[in-house]
Amino acid sequence: MSIAFVILAAGQGTRMNSDLPKVLHQIGGAPMLVHAIRAAEFQDPSRIVVVTGHGGEAVGKAALDYQPMVDIAEQGEQLGTAHAVAQARSALEGFEGDVIVLYGDTPFVQTETLEKMREARAAHDVVVLGFEAADPGRYGRLVMDGKNLERIVEFKDATEEERRITLCNSGVIAANAQVLFGLIDAVGNDNASGEYYLTDIIGLARGRGLSAGAVTCDEAETLGVNSRAELSTAEALFQARRRAEALEDGVTLIAPDTVHFAFDTVIGRDSVVEPNVVFGPGASVESGVTVRAFSHLEGCHVSRGSVVGPYARLRPGAELAEDVKIGNFVEIKASRVDRGAKINHLTYVGDAEVGEEANLGAGTVTCNYDGVMKHQTRIGARAFIGSSTMLVAPVSIGDDAMTGSGSVITQDVEPGALAIGRAKQVTKPGLARKLFEMLKAQKAKKQQGAE
Ligand code: UD1
Ligand code: CA
Repeated sequence: MSIAFVILAAGQGTRMNSDLPKVLHQIGGAPMLVHAIRAAEFQDPSRIVVVTGHGGEAVGKAALDYQPMVDIAEQGEQLGTAHAVAQARSALEGFEGDVIVLYGDTPFVQTETLEKMREARAAHDVVVLGFEAADPGRYGRLVMDGKNLERIVEFKDATEEERRITLCNSGVIAANAQVLFGLIDAVGNDNASGEYYLTDIIGLARGRGLSAGAVTCDEAETLGVNSRAELSTAEALFQARRRAEALEDGVTLIAPDTVHFAFDTVIGRDSVVEPNVVFGPGASVESGVTVRAFSHLEGCHVSRGSVVGPYARLRPGAELAEDVKIGNFVEIKASRVDRGAKINHLTYVGDAEVGEEANLGAGTVTCNYDGVMKHQTRIGARAFIGSSTMLVAPVSIGDDAMTGSGSVITQDVEPGALAIGRAKQVTKPGLARKLFEMLKAQKAKKQQGAE
């Protein structure tokens, strides 16, 4: 059965107290909306429609930046969840399979749960995702009749008795596209909020002799974000889940609570991550890697057997081959570092290629930026870069070449050559002692004058 998703993301999110549309606030380094799109993607959908309204342009752009196959449907006025889904109708023209409605601000719905809902469609025309709420608060309530769902009643419209129901509506609903839009056409707005409630389609479906049912999931999965406090709770929950997954996948986390993951972090088996490491988006680490304490990795790839940190920073485009060593206070950006190279201390490598087993001394800097343009540096295999060498790009150091410590290298160095680019040393015997005496005498004179 082919599947399509409609992701509702038009709401304002007033309680976020923010200029940023709610669904663009981030969890694990990605907008909440991207989490919802990813949940949809795992189902291999034919279409994904994102319904935008408040901050629509930015929301649409974020969706398309992440997934260009997404369709954007605009909801001019936010007249309710049924009205929001109705906006997706033209984007789903000709689509004959099932539609699942998700919310852009409910980022944790799990793959298995969506699969359960798809299976439940064999038994029911409309399937709703519900959860047993510890504190049902203002959620819509599922009114069940045995295995059948009778209707959903919104908190505002519920009787005292209905409010005592603890089985709540998550908002996720699945139905055949034609059936769904047929039901939505019949939804009115004669209720406590004056809104077109998507939840009304259940009662309408039952009235038409269709069947409805509920699938349930853990409350944590349907966690919605409406405030900064809830955003921080969601982030904590996301991190807890990712840490548990990493441990499960055979990664050693010495202090799991101090390691922060992004939505797409990949870490191979038997890698060790020391305390206080942060993974930004786009980091992948192969097996058997050690990421030492206080390192920050983003948009990078680290191959088998490499050691990174402590206090290292891998920025986007850092590509480390096997058995590379990146030490303390080293930053690597948009550079490839080949097998066995060592860059151990206080170094910046940007827009560069570093050959196999090259060794970069402490304080090496690729001077890659001239204030206007970025330039490339190439360091050959087994090259030895003396401490505090400034490599003024564009520049190339040949295989097996060497640079003297403190050199400023502005011209290419051929393979096997030694380049020294620094002022010649001058030594004046006895002059330091004389200078000290002179300075001390000056200081004593000054102090006398002050008394
Ligand atoms: C909705 C459900 C409620 C459920 C709860 C779960 C309805 C009528 N009620 O209530 O049963 O328990 O979610 O969180 O569906 N949106 C639009 N356009 C609109 C209105 C809403 O895109 O015109 C989007 C919002 O951005 C949000 C989602 O739909 O992502 C839910 O809307 P919201 O107003 O938060 O619904 P609730 O009142 O919480
Ligand atoms: Ca809500």
